[in-house]
Amino acid sequence: MIYLDNAATSWPKPASVSAAMRDFLERAGGNPGRSGHRLSIAAGRIVYDTREALAEFFGLQDPLRVIFTLNATHALNLALQGLLQPGQRVVTGGMEHNAVMRPLRELETRGVKVDVIPAREDGTLDPADFAAALQTPARLVVINHASNVCGTLAPVKEIASLAHAAGALVLVDAAQTAGALPIHLPTLGVDLLAFTGHKALHGPPGTGGLVLADSFDPAQLRPLVRGGTGSRSEYEIQPDDLPDRYESGTPNGVGIAGLGAGLAWLNERGIESLRAHELSLSARLREGLNEIPGVTVYGPKDPQHATAVLSFTLQGKSVSEVGYRLDEDYEIFCRVGLHCAPAAHRSLGTFPAGTVRLAPGPTTTLHDIETVLCAVREIAQA
Ligand SMILES: Cc1ncc(COP(=O)(O)O)c(C=O)c1O
Repeated sequence: MIYLDNAATSWPKPASVSAAMRDFLERAGGNPGRSGHRLSIAAGRIVYDTREALAEFFGLQDPLRVIFTLNATHALNLALQGLLQPGQRVVTGGMEHNAVMRPLRELETRGVKVDVIPAREDGTLDPADFAAALQTPARLVVINHASNVCGTLAPVKEIASLAHAAGALVLVDAAQTAGALPIHLPTLGVDLLAFTGHKALHGPPGTGGLVLADSFDPAQLRPLVRGGTGSRSEYEIQPDDLPDRYESGTPNGVGIAGLGAGLAWLNERGIESLRAHELSLSARLREGLNEIPGVTVYGPKDPQHATAVLSFTLQGKSVSEVGYRLDEDYEIFCRVGLHCAPAAHRSLGTFPAGTVRLAPGPTTTLHDIETVLCAVREIAQA
């Protein structure tokens, strides 16, 4: 079988990920940060080591500014609900995932003003449009770093500098980019970054986080959940210390152990060489698909302006039929439809039918890609 659904979740995970998770359960199964016995200390060390490795990975000085969450959606909700108040304005782009749009639409019903800057047909955003929108005061700009539909990268650095000049904070949704390309928070110039652990960081489901820039003042961000932290137990109010202000309840230690192993594997393999491998595959995929009569490929033509995620449609065939045939007849696994991103599909002109999405990963080979191209050619001719 050929797994081309790495934009949904990466698979297969490195063997070291399951080994680290098993090891956590069998040898460090205490509750991190709660008790003084050795199992709790061992668990706390694994959680801290992963936090530290992530801080280094994102270019942060203070590891305590990596806040663990269940996934990117949880991190985005923490940021959006914690930052925005009725009467304030938020600016976002036309390629957002519902992990951003649904919390924003709910906040809208509570008096937050939401402005969506349209994207072009290849999913690109123009910083000039943001400059114009930021003539009116805004509390926050939230931007999807890379489209989960067609891979298009957003000009986050340019938009962040415009936003800061206008006095707005910047939140980036890095669900598709954390682990897929190098991210250095100070260079990107954003205040908050939401990431997921189960995609290009190669960790297990149930992991992710919100990263706070060293310059960001946490007093601006209300916690989403309050409760036990293992610290300052004498108080019935939430402590302000990081990361406890935002991390209540027992953390997913076993998942975080796996995430640490996923990140270590990524660092060992080298993010640049994995990106080069995946981009060469998506470039061949795009080229081959474009040669098939009836196929339309979406997203930017230059692979350097995208992740390896690619979407296409086939004239005369529904996306579900194409996905079904790929799965049933060829054991090629992809994702079809709207990919939880109706706004992005409206921008690309593929709403409401959606697209067929192909997302190669580290273990995908050129042979796999040629097999996929043969399959699509046959489906197109049938
Ligand atoms: C762009 C984008 N944002 C947010 C999410 C949500 O990520 P998670 O499933 O980790 O909550 C995804 C997942 O597909 C995504 O692609």
